[in-house]
Amino acid sequence: MSDEIFQSYGIHRWSQGMFAQLDNGDLGLVNPARPDAPPASLPDLLHNLDARGIHTPVLVRVGAFLRRQLEALNASFAKAIAANDYQGTYRGVFPIKVNQQAEVIDRIVEYGRPFQFGLEAGSKPELILALSRDLPKGALLICNGIKDPEFIRLGILARKAGINCVLVIESPGEADTVIAEARRLGEMPALGVRIKLTRRVTGNWADSSGDRSTFGLTTKEVVDLVDKLRDAEMLDCLVLQHAHLGSQVPQVIDIRQAVDEACRFYTELRRLGVPLQYLDLGGGLGIDYTGEARASENSINYTMDEYCANIVETVKYQMDEAEVPHPTLVTESGRAIVAYSSMLLSDILEASYFDRSAPITPEEDDHHMLSDMAAIVSYLTPRRVQECLNDAEYYREELRALFRRGVIGIEEVARAEQIFLYVIGRIKDLVAQTPDVPAEVREELSAHRDIYRANFSLFQSLPDVWAIDQLVPIAPLQRLNETPGRRAVLSDITCDSDGKIDHFVLGDGIGNALPVHELQPGTRYFIGIFLVGAYQETLGDLHNLFGDTNIVTVDFNEDGVLELQSEVEGDTVAEVMAYVEYEPKQCLDAFKRIVERGVREGALNPAQRRMLMQTYRDALSGYTYYEHEEQEHA
Ligand SMILES: Cc1ncc(COP(=O)(O)O)c(C=O)c1O
Repeated sequence: MSDEIFQSYGIHRWSQGMFAQLDNGDLGLVNPARPDAPPASLPDLLHNLDARGIHTPVLVRVGAFLRRQLEALNASFAKAIAANDYQGTYRGVFPIKVNQQAEVIDRIVEYGRPFQFGLEAGSKPELILALSRDLPKGALLICNGIKDPEFIRLGILARKAGINCVLVIESPGEADTVIAEARRLGEMPALGVRIKLTRRVTGNWADSSGDRSTFGLTTKEVVDLVDKLRDAEMLDCLVLQHAHLGSQVPQVIDIRQAVDEACRFYTELRRLGVPLQYLDLGGGLGIDYTGEARASENSINYTMDEYCANIVETVKYQMDEAEVPHPTLVTESGRAIVAYSSMLLSDILEASYFDRSAPITPEEDDHHMLSDMAAIVSYLTPRRVQECLNDAEYYREELRALFRRGVIGIEEVARAEQIFLYVIGRIKDLVAQTPDVPAEVREELSAHRDIYRANFSLFQSLPDVWAIDQLVPIAPLQRLNETPGRRAVLSDITCDSDGKIDHFVLGDGIGNALPVHELQPGTRYFIGIFLVGAYQETLGDLHNLFGDTNIVTVDFNEDGVLELQSEVEGDTVAEVMAYVEYEPKQCLDAFKRIVERGVREGALNPAQRRMLMQTYRDALSGYTYYEHEEQEHA
């Protein structure tokens, strides 16, 4: 079977082998433990969930993919450590902010147990949830962020309970609070210092690195901190040096240079007598969202193995030069661990086909420009394509202007629109059969794309796509053995012009339209939006009051069968109303009074009143997304 269509979505490039096509054209999940077994069909999964009353849009988390990534990171470090005869070990931590959901954190703790994998908390609430997770002995709990005395007390006292909490000092003032709290409690903390590297990395998050980073101590402040801790007889507490390399760093050379600089700080601090043992390099390990394997904002020019090898080699070289014992390496990789394991699956509710228009003849009294536009097809030849396109657009603009000035009426504009779409359709057909059409014509025509309306909210489920133009791979979940004949942009169901996706990861780069199949009446057309496990789940907002989607966690069982392991129901309308300070019961009562007035005034009969109130009640307790009629009665 040819996998040309599968490849046209670039799935073979970005999926790292975790997705594959089934013989029937479905997209499926590959079991990492049995890569040769038939993949588990995603449309089948959605039909099964539907039958259980769990409807689209649904965020699907795949436990096996999370485990795969966590194990891969530890294996890559172990390989680099062995290859370089590095004397230290690797102790990763997962930064909770990247995905705080309990199900995800619990799995990370469970899968990470053999590697003594820990957590990173960037705030007091994150620390509080991390403290409740029973981390394995030896695992680190790194505390970043601005800390109040209560946060610091928790971090100091938790050590007494066997939790390896390290308080990373982020500002000069924080050191004073730490010293005061330690004295008050009569207990010694484990401390880290966050240094500000001067090297800037490239990419979308460049500002979180280098001098412009708002976090960390300047070199002078680091030296002052050492003196302060020495004076307080607490220098022995300073065991960790933290430097956040950045996030989604596109180039491996940036990583090497930043690690190099971090090592200079480390060896110098050791020279000053600081008993550092841990070198924490923060985040930065990127994801190849586009699969292009190049240094760009949505791609990376290195593999996980290369990332680890670069770190280990650089640290070893620098430490050996300075005759400093090899530190325990710590990274706070977030997206590399969780991005692959979550995907948003939804369905297309309807399509507006751009060029779906039958030829029509203008009416006798119509403005002559309608006939002029209709006549374009009579001189449409491969050599005159550009001219025909210009003419069609010119007539359309002129006719719209005539409408605005009150010269022609709405029916005439409607006919003009239909003629325009017909002409463009004919031009597109000709261009499809003509190889040497100028690129500009193709580009111009590609602006005339279908609109496929999908059941999700960009603002709730893909905030980075809206806010920072993050690219995430998108593909249909079925009919991958059938050439997709249409090109579409995806629009969500918020009534906001920003709620659309018009840049897509494709097999040959980035395109402004997604190849899609024509919808078949009565058959649902599912799409998947992939690699959304990092940062998207909690950053989303309630734009248009679309709430959290349904979430399921699935995993392969011992027999290799995909099974549903847990389910979190998405928000109901009543829940999102409460978030924005409406009391659903009060709304119901208020609406009841309005409806009753209608009955009194004779506008509604009692049966209509009953049906209206019942519909309101049902909607309050229902899903915030588009519900298909048959689902509502399921
Ligand atoms: C201190 C810190 N650690 C770790 C991370 C995670 O980074 P990434 O998701 O790129 O691995 C971040 C994110 O920016 C961060 O600020």
